[in-house]
Amino acid sequence: MSLPTVVCGRSGRMANLLARAVRDTTDLALAGRLSLRDPAGPPAAGVFTALTDLPAAPAVVVDFTHRAATVRLLRAAEDTPCALVVGTSGLTDTDQALLRRVARRRPVVHAANFSPVMALLRRFVGELAEVLDDSWDAAVVDVHHAAKVDAPSATASALAGAWGATRAAAPISSLRFGDAVSEHRLLAGGAGEQVELAHRVNERSAFVPGVLAAVRFAGRATPGLYRLEDALCA
Ligand SMILES: NC(=O)c1ccc[n+]([C@@H]2O[C@H](COP(=O)([O-])OP(=O)(O)OC[C@H]3O[C@@H](n4cnc5c(N)ncnc54)[C@H](OP(=O)(O)O)[C@@H]3O)[C@@H](O)[C@H]2O)c1
Repeated sequence: MSLPTVVCGRSGRMANLLARAVRDTTDLALAGRLSLRDPAGPPAAGVFTALTDLPAAPAVVVDFTHRAATVRLLRAAEDTPCALVVGTSGLTDTDQALLRRVARRRPVVHAANFSPVMALLRRFVGELAEVLDDSWDAAVVDVHHAAKVDAPSATASALAGAWGATRAAAPISSLRFGDAVSEHRLLAGGAGEQVELAHRVNERSAFVPGVLAAVRFAGRATPGLYRLEDALCA
């Protein structure tokens, strides 16, 4: 039997991409689209405006929208059983606390970046920071399209955090221009040499395999807050 999956957003780029990707699988079924705009936008065919309006309880709800919508979803998920996969950027500390509270009762996969390669890169940065000598320091560059609302990106913070787990924090420089999806660089320098690790996303489709893995994982997981790595290693 296929896993009933709801995609939040009726017109967003990630929402459309993920709805199509879910439809194209044989083990997931698109159970609906959920638009949690406030005030509610004009009604659209096949789009629900509340979790409780869906014809059947969803197994997994995927949310790559806007923090206002994500907060509404998290509040609704406190009362409606479902697993969540959340990729929306710009969540505040209060939002993150709400997410953790929901995760005590529901499986929640949350990642700043659903690219499986970025998950590996973060791990590598952590290992690099652990083994390099004290002459090394680092900085992170975060490049996104002009419309991105938050800076630094959560991915940049995660890269800086991976470096800073064992040594001085890496400062982040954020640049917002044009329409590129995203680019993150970790620049590190020691005595007489430098290393530069770069990850560039040209198409949002780069996130799809990680999101689908997270949906499948969330659909069978017990309540808890999980990272993309948990879904990829399961
Ligand atoms: N974690 C990751 O790997 C990852 C990867 C890519 C993107 N993202 C994040 O995913 C989010 C969506 O990205 P996108 O490129 O798809 O953006 P987008 O094309 O601008 O779409 C925005 C989405 O958010 C909803 N929305 C916008 N303003 C809203 C509001 N005030 N209240 C409620 N809903 C609102 C829209 O809902 P309707 O469609 O219903 O109008 C739409 O679906 C962003 O936060 C982005 O940073 C994360």
